[in-house]
Parts: sequence; structure tokens; C-alpha cells
Amino acid sequence: MESTEKLIEDSAEILMKIIKERRSIRKFTDEDVPEDLVLKFLEAARWAPSAGDVQDWEFIVIRDKDIKEQLSNAALRQPSVRKAPVVIAVCANQIRASKTYRSRGVNLYCYQDSAAAIQNLLLTIHANGYGAVWVGAFDDKMVAEILKTPDGIRPIALIPIGRPAEHPSPTHRYKLKKVTHLNQYGNLYLKNK
Ligand SMILES: Cc1cc2nc3c(=O)[nH]c(=O)nc-3n(C[C@H](O)[C@H](O)[C@H](O)COP(=O)(O)O)c2cc1C
Repeated sequence: MESTEKLIEDSAEILMKIIKERRSIRKFTDEDVPEDLVLKFLEAARWAPSAGDVQDWEFIVIRDKDIKEQLSNAALRQPSVRKAPVVIAVCANQIRASKTYRSRGVNLYCYQDSAAAIQNLLLTIHANGYGAVWVGAFDDKMVAEILKTPDGIRPIALIPIGRPAEHPSPTHRYKLKKVTHLNQYGNLYLKNK
């Protein structure tokens, strides 16, 4: 096999392994996350696709103990938010989205784009030997107040990050045939997958 082909095959295999082995990590050791790694995670987030290349996301890096405590309280007291050495809040920038795409930008694209950035974050965090969880259950108003986000900058996720202190088993995944359709909804795509 050509060496470039082999490289592609190996990279694809590694990527699939990272995708499949990433788990939500909610318990962390006391070890810190160095700033250069946080930057690396954010760099991956910034390279996510976005509608019209609008890049309608914002990231807030939180290390302050008191702010993490407040965020945890706003997120049903989830300990992961309080205990992680660093939390990244991902916000959808509805102002930037609306300039190009009006209501579709505000109601759809900014969330899709930010979600793509979050997945890049999660995969890169895992690939670097750290763990994280996407926390979406929180009181919007409380979180916006704590983070001092202005109108149009909507916090959509808190991502606590740290060295994993747990190794959860994979969760159940639906078989592809339950969620995949051929040509039109309802037609079986795969019989035995
Ligand atoms: C939009 C969204 C919101 C989520 N909110 C929370 C949350 O508030 N707290 C939490 O512990 N996990 C949260 N999760 C993580 C899911 O519970 C987790 O991804 C799912 O159980 C699958 O497990 P896995 O990530 O290990 O594959 C959220 C995930 C998504 C995508």
C-alpha cells in the first residue's frame, strides 16, 4: 500500500477510536489543566464548521473557584462544574448570526455551529488524555448573570474539564437500522446493522 494511503487509513482509524472512546467524564482528579492545553482545545473548537463561516460562538474560560461554585448551583448543583479545574462556557453569538442569516441564524445556525465547536472541544480534550462533559442543564438566566453575558450572547453549554477520575462504560447506542432510512423516512436502510 502507498504510504499516503496507509497514513490516511491509520488516521481514520485513530479518529474513529477517539470518537468511540470519548465518554462524558464527571469526576476529576485534582490535577490542573495547563493553559497551553486549554488553548489547544479552544483552537480545535475554533476550526469547527459554521453556517456561512459566521463563527457565531464565544468561549469563556473559567478557573475562578467562586464562579465555578455559582455555575454549579445554577446547573442543578452538578458537582462536575464545581470540581473541575477549568470550565469552558460555550455561548452562541446570536448577534453575529442574525447579521447574516436573520431569524434562521438566531434560532438555528448559532446553536448548530456552537454544537459543532463543542464536539471538537470534547474530542480534542479526550485525545489529549483529559476528560469533560457537556453540561446543558442549567438555569439560563442565572448563568447569564454569573457570566455577565450581554443580550444576544447565549450560554448554551458548560464544559467542565480535568483529568478523569472515572472510566465509564459506553452508553447504549441505538442500532443504525433504527435511526437510518433509505431515500425517504420510514424505508429500511440496513437490515442487520
Ligand atoms: C445537549 C446536551 C446536554 C447535556 N447535559 C448534561 C448535563 O447537564 N449533565 C451531565 O452530566 N451530562 C449532560 N450531557 C451528557 C450526556 O448525558 C451524555 O453525552 C450521554 O449520556 C452519552 O454519554 P457519553 O457522552 O459518555 O457518550 C449532555 C449532553 C448533551 C449533548
